[in-house]
Amino acid sequence: MAAYKSAIPTRRFDAVIVGAGGSGMRASLQLAEAGLNVAVLSKVFPTRSHTVAAQGGIGASLGNMAEDNWFWHMFDTVKGGDYLGDQDAIEFMCREAPKVVYELEHFGMPFDRNPDGTIYQRPFGGHTAHFGEKPVQRACAAADRTGHALLHTLYQRNVRARTHFFVEWMALDLIRDAEGDVIGVVALEMETGECMILEAKTTVMATGGAGRIFAASTNAFINTGDGMGMAARAGLPLQDMEFWQFHPTGVAGAGVLITEGVRGEGGILINSEGERFMERYAPTLKDLAPRDFVSRSMDQEIKEGRGCGPNKDHVMLDLRHIGADTIAKRLPSILEIGHKFANVDATKEPIPVVPTIHYQMGGIPTNIHGQVVTPTGPDNSAKVVNGLYAIGECACVSVHGANRLGTNSLLDLVVFGRAAGNHIVNSGLKAKENKPLPADAAEFAMGRLARLENSTGTETVQGVANDIRATMQKYCGVFRTDEMLNKGVEEIMKLDERRKHVSFKDKSMVFNTARVEALELDNLIETAKATIVSAAARKESRGAHAQDDHPQRDDDNWMKHTLWYSEGNRLEYKPVVTKPLTVDTFKPKPRTF
Ligand code: FUM
Repeated sequence: MAAYKSAIPTRRFDAVIVGAGGSGMRASLQLAEAGLNVAVLSKVFPTRSHTVAAQGGIGASLGNMAEDNWFWHMFDTVKGGDYLGDQDAIEFMCREAPKVVYELEHFGMPFDRNPDGTIYQRPFGGHTAHFGEKPVQRACAAADRTGHALLHTLYQRNVRARTHFFVEWMALDLIRDAEGDVIGVVALEMETGECMILEAKTTVMATGGAGRIFAASTNAFINTGDGMGMAARAGLPLQDMEFWQFHPTGVAGAGVLITEGVRGEGGILINSEGERFMERYAPTLKDLAPRDFVSRSMDQEIKEGRGCGPNKDHVMLDLRHIGADTIAKRLPSILEIGHKFANVDATKEPIPVVPTIHYQMGGIPTNIHGQVVTPTGPDNSAKVVNGLYAIGECACVSVHGANRLGTNSLLDLVVFGRAAGNHIVNSGLKAKENKPLPADAAEFAMGRLARLENSTGTETVQGVANDIRATMQKYCGVFRTDEMLNKGVEEIMKLDERRKHVSFKDKSMVFNTARVEALELDNLIETAKATIVSAAARKESRGAHAQDDHPQRDDDNWMKHTLWYSEGNRLEYKPVVTKPLTVDTFKPKPRTF
């Protein structure tokens, strides 16, 4: 039995950032360079954070290879998100995009180059010129390893700026004082199994997504929704969690991502009849329509019996015509993934692919500075949670609305990581004092640990986690119905009960991954509940939420953000921000491509 120290050690920082992916490290860089004392906690070595898996590019209207501007980028993002995105935040992100990409270039990020030395850009799904007329090259790429290049660049800059990294540390819970301000976190060091309080004047959640609530996912095993779990347990809402993106091209049976950059370079999707079926569904953008559109089209082909393979359960991604030289130069990882995970030589054979969970559009609600906000009062005016920011995939600003465009996630990380960093620095944090720590600061987190340590329940962590994944996959997929979603809610609530009875046998302290997985389970279940409850309530089809019983988008009743609260499993709603910062509103229109 683990015996925890009665007095938990405490360390004090100006800022604690939970997560060392692209957003966390972009924020920490801003803070450390401003002379603040910054701690970054990460469950893995920083360069193994999930950002490393991003392949195809970061979106910015540099116009290096064709005429482009931020306003077209904004239009595509609003339309791509099916008009659920907040237009002030979208304008901010698209305007900032060229600036943050050039900044990365100057940090030393090794982008691919055009012959004239400018950054190479490829087309990507839903990114167009002239308001949807044709695809445009907007994805700034480092081959098909853009996230890898970005993450390593940011890590090296952080080392130079003397950011403190707490590697293989898992944050357990937020500490809030009597006024509701966030004043740090309780965290567990995996190497020793011991806990520590990290006091902070500002805490930044940058924990990434929760793709591991689904069975078939492009996400890393670390993506267990830790930030969402911590926020939910601290009484904060989660926004728009019903919107989950299926990436059209996960390797069938393996889930590994095949970048949309393949289609950007000219690859096409074909069905069992060898037909380029996207020409029928999206006559203008074809294979480069937004992901929700392409995923549904693929699913439709499979449903109608034109799937490939013995079980007719996938389609094919054909890139043979691109040529071996271009594949080797622009898509080297895809060649390797094709070999390793599908046993095909992609220069000679198509790759079997299927829509696979990739990204959550929802998360912890924030404003454009990254401050966590909760609506309050009848006018839903936003109230800032003092001392707490959220950035990256765990946050919902909301720039992606009901469906994110490819390349806008790396962009979101860097734009809002930087914006949060600037806001924190400009708030005069350095001169402020840390707020006093309440005597019971660690009580909640330690109580959670004690429950697990002392549990004699018969449920296993893996058993419950696998059943959560299977349930979400079955009842909350590409196409949804009232019956499926209501059943899904019932099943997930039963799993929440079973979760209370998990135990693990190995109580050793040093690198005990069983304990870490048990703690992660609490985060998986909060995210799964938020998702399925929010999805069951939304009676329309919008973006990634395709509801067969309510097939139309219903702007009169449903152009609003969902807020789910763990306490009482209750839902509230708040309006979408339709007024951009400086330009006219993009009014909702039918989405055709
Ligand atoms: O397809 C991809 O390379 C994924 C990019 C993204 O999710 O933005």
